[in-house]
Amino acid sequence: MGKIPENILNEIQDKCDIVEVISSYIPLKPSGRNFKACCPFHHEKTPSFVVSPDKQIYHCFGCNSGGNVFNFLKEYEKIDFIDAVKMLAEKTGVKLPESRSHSDQDDSLVSTLYSVNDIAANYYSNLLEKLGSSLEPKRYIAKRGLDGAIIKKFRVGYADSSWKALLDYLLGRGVKQDIILKAGLIIKGKDNSYYDLFRNRVIFPIFDARDKVIGFGARVMDETLPKYINSPETAVYKKGQHLYGLNFAKTHIKERNFAIITEGYLDVITCHQYGFSNIVASLGTALTTEQIRLLKRYTHNVVMLYDADQAGEMASLRGLDLFLEEDMNVKIATLEKGHDPDSFLRKFGKEKFDEIIKKSKSLFTYKLNILQGRSNNREPESKAETIKEMLSTINRVRNAIIKAEYIKLLAQELSVREDAVWEELKKIKKDRVPHRTESIGHGTKKLIEISPAEKILAKLMLEDVNIVRIVRDELKPSDFRNQDIRNIAEALFSINIEDGLIDVSKLINSIEDKVPQNIISFIVNEEVEIRDKEKNACDCIMTIKKENRSILLKDIQNRLYAAQKSGYEEEEKRLVEEFNQLIKRGL
Ligand code: UTP
Ligand code: MN
Repeated sequence: MGKIPENILNEIQDKCDIVEVISSYIPLKPSGRNFKACCPFHHEKTPSFVVSPDKQIYHCFGCNSGGNVFNFLKEYEKIDFIDAVKMLAEKTGVKLPESRSHSDQDDSLVSTLYSVNDIAANYYSNLLEKLGSSLEPKRYIAKRGLDGAIIKKFRVGYADSSWKALLDYLLGRGVKQDIILKAGLIIKGKDNSYYDLFRNRVIFPIFDARDKVIGFGARVMDETLPKYINSPETAVYKKGQHLYGLNFAKTHIKERNFAIITEGYLDVITCHQYGFSNIVASLGTALTTEQIRLLKRYTHNVVMLYDADQAGEMASLRGLDLFLEEDMNVKIATLEKGHDPDSFLRKFGKEKFDEIIKKSKSLFTYKLNILQGRSNNREPESKAETIKEMLSTINRVRNAIIKAEYIKLLAQELSVREDAVWEELKKIKKDRVPHRTESIGHGTKKLIEISPAEKILAKLMLEDVNIVRIVRDELKPSDFRNQDIRNIAEALFSINIEDGLIDVSKLINSIEDKVPQNIISFIVNEEVEIRDKEKNACDCIMTIKKENRSILLKDIQNRLYAAQKSGYEEEEKRLVEEFNQLIKRGL
């Protein structure tokens, strides 16, 4: 999709309230005319994130990020502008114009891949449905205990053993081979012809958080290896960037305010079948920071429920640290040896499963148990080793009180002096490389570079359309020395002044750069009242003119000096004339 027309953007903004949108992600507390929260974009303990319902703008005075509702979605959901617009268009029921131009090829490829994947998912699930119950796939699925409703919900399917069944089907429906390849559904054989990637396997479509099919996992029906074949990375499927089942789980996660994270396709599906719906899978054991951030949109509390084997244990220990890095509250539930959530539920049932979740352990107990299993912790050296290991995790806890409590507990458990543990902690701190960027705003440093007159004038213009009128008659955008203020002035000068009002949240859409956007949200939310607006504006205009004039004069003087030194008489004469003209025009 190309550029979205301004009137459409305006319509979407008119139909949604920034307070409502933001509060669906983070809790907002009323504060005067505004709302406040701890900033979701950087780590802080006292709220400096302000949302203004009047101006439909947010700004964080801590990290200086800010903007309108589209900017918030972009930052929070880590999506681009177009996707933010699409999300809100859907929510508000505003129709977006059909994409006609092919200028934005990526975007059209993405939606094509979604629809090809969707067709393939339907193809696989129809194939399964049509099979007689005595055939292998049906028997396998029955053996795994999946019921009809859950098969339908997760769109479980089957790929038969022919080499080109899906390829031929899709070609027959007019899908280009090139697109089928880009969707990762076929691969090139030795003879340079293409054939289906998934054959003779049970198919699990992988969805993104908005129900779109982005890829597939395919399981063998016996013990052969590899157990699963998954889609390769495509324009819509990136490994480690999605959570399996999040589309079904997200509302339940919000409702219950915690999520269970597990490893596999069938763990998620079986849990859903048993009524545990706040569950997602990392698909394999390597949980990523991206996946955690995805989850964090819905809750800050997680229970890790990994397979009760050595791989699961290692994955839990690693996941623990990652969750703490992301400031999440994390607990670990452990199943009976050899089980995964799917097998456990089927063997022991709902109540026992619930108990396991309720009995989940804190990071402290979990990790200490594992470490104590490895050594007796009687020798000083082994105690020191255990403490070092524990501290590397405890050190990631952001809450100072919880951290201190863990340290106290650790000292008690291993019967060592608490101050000695603190001492060791200090040593670790020095080595630790900070994992997250503390600030995403791009305006802080830039704001200092702006002259006060330009900043005040920008503020006055953003607040009052009459000031824009006055300034426009006196200054050109290029008269502003700061490039970001220049962009803001350009945007302000081109609004329709006759409207009588400036809608800052909409003005932001006409500015491409992030820095001026952040500067606008800062200026607008700053609680500084400027009285006598017109007079102040005139003073600022004068100051800016004066500053520019003196810069210009200085520049001419420098050039004049250089011309005199090098004997360029023509240039010298011209510069003297220019200088006199400027002086004559006076102040
Ligand atoms: P598991 O080996 O625990 O499989 O791998 P599972 O999900 O419990 O499946 P069942 O119960 O044996 O049928 C966990 C996850 O790791 C990924 C899959 O996402 C799987 O669900 N995996 C595993 C693969 O991608 N490829 C493999 O060969 C194995
Ligand atoms: Mn399993």
